[in-house]
Amino acid sequence: MLTYLAYIVEGIFSIGFLWKIFVYARSPAPLLIPTTPAPVTRSGVVWRLFREVVFFESLFKADKLLWIVGYAFHAALALVLIRHIRYSIDPLPEFFAHYQIVGIMAGLVMVGALAFLLARRFVIDRVRHISSPADYLILLLLLGIGTSGLLMDFILRPDIVAIKHAMTTLWTSSAASLSMASPGDVVFILHLIMVAALIIIFPFSKLMHLGGIFFSPTRNQVDNPREQRHINPWYVEK
Ligand code: HEM
Repeated sequence: MLTYLAYIVEGIFSIGFLWKIFVYARSPAPLLIPTTPAPVTRSGVVWRLFREVVFFESLFKADKLLWIVGYAFHAALALVLIRHIRYSIDPLPEFFAHYQIVGIMAGLVMVGALAFLLARRFVIDRVRHISSPADYLILLLLLGIGTSGLLMDFILRPDIVAIKHAMTTLWTSSAASLSMASPGDVVFILHLIMVAALIIIFPFSKLMHLGGIFFSPTRNQVDNPREQRHINPWYVEK
């Protein structure tokens, strides 16, 4: 049962993600509109995109507080996901024995940052004005995943051995299942349902900025209209 669900969730995600990338890649860019000052060479564009992806450079220039919190969320998410590797590989490399505390601290930072990002949408008038239900839904979903995770870490312990067994056999055994023996196990199932929901909506939501950033004309164009003629891809010679 769990295995079939995993394949369905994974299938929706992969097909949706690839489809979106295909649509982005085929979208015409009728005008040269790189945000200036912009690089004048291809390698300059690669460097610019690198800084954008790794350091969130344009957000840094625009809003320092939002940059700190947004960066903290993404970095903490990465650290949390690294800790999650322990649920799906066996035997575990020695590294993970020392890593646990880092992952748990990152979980606290992640939930704190998400609470700030949600409060920001309620408290700041102009941000509330442009916030859609999807903006709230995604933040609430991530908060639900994070708080249920911390609940398992600190209060309601699930059966980690059973979880690890289910996760390591997830893709290969249709008998993979979960126990519901304790409140912690129920919290885990809620954690998993919310994760599945997040993965399913991923390709159809703004979470696609993960792939979309590379196709953004304001970021990926070379600022060379004085050197090269840019032809509008919609232009038809009469
Ligand atoms: C199949 C996917 C996942 C599984 C099986 C899973 C499982 C778990 C388990 C069992 C815990 C409790 C940790 C413990 O008591 O040792 C936990 C914690 C946590 N999970 Fe997940 N999780 C998954 C995906 C995710 C995702 C995608 C996120 C974030 C978007 C996430 C965020 C967290 C956080 C923040 C914690 C608390 C901090 C930590 O223990 O690292 N989880 N997860």
